[in-house]
Amino acid sequence: MTVRVDVTRARDWPGRVAGLLAERFARNPRAVVCLPTGSTPLPVYARLPVELAARGASAGGATIVLLDEYVGLPAGHPGRCDATLRRVLVDRLDPPPARFIAFDVDAAAGDGSSIARAFDAAVASAGGLDLVVLGLGANGHVGLNEPGTPADAGTRVVDLAETTRTAAIGYGADPPPRRGATLGMAGILGAAEVWLLAAGAHKAAILGAALDGPATPAVPASLLRTHPRLRVLADDAARPGRSGPDQPA
Ligand code: GLP
Repeated sequence: MTVRVDVTRARDWPGRVAGLLAERFARNPRAVVCLPTGSTPLPVYARLPVELAARGASAGGATIVLLDEYVGLPAGHPGRCDATLRRVLVDRLDPPPARFIAFDVDAAAGDGSSIARAFDAAVASAGGLDLVVLGLGANGHVGLNEPGTPADAGTRVVDLAETTRTAAIGYGADPPPRRGATLGMAGILGAAEVWLLAAGAHKAAILGAALDGPATPAVPASLLRTHPRLRVLADDAARPGRSGPDQPA
């Protein structure tokens, strides 16, 4: 399977990714798009309204699906992924998306399987995922699918890796939660299209492992290479020496 790796200069990268995303909404106004939190997509989300406007497009008919969520933080906590995605994107889209699907970790506190069932049912009723956009965890996780996750893992509540808990503090989730809910590898691989985002030199080694090393559950992002429509969108710090649109990995 040839993986397409689109490498852009760091200063152009947010505009490149936001432009591609805006094109998706322009082409399919009712798109169902799963989006991550984390620091990587922040400049992309900041740029998206401009790129939508440039195309005369909007996300007003779209469904935005949250990729993952911490379990154990109270509703409205600013470090929660739902609050974060609303703040950095959903609440800044005008018109707002038709629907925002997140994990109901409050009503079903402690019961992982009902959280997962409700999330999967909501995504299915929206028509399934047209596109999943992913960040890349320092340990190779995607969503909260931590190292050791097999390709057939479903939506579920997981124990977080220590590196993920440490990162959570940086996102305002303090004290860091021990568990999280995530779209599973199976749900990611079942989407019509998958984009993996990576920006910054601190992602170069783990992106290299994901693209050039063995495809293994030890690096969950490496399992994405089995997807027929995987696109890696990297800046030239995360993928040095390979500049250009849609290069083979
Ligand atoms: C976090 C999130 C992921 C995110 C990833 C990368 O733990 N659960 O969904 O994409 O780690 O974060 P960042 O973009 O800040 O490097």
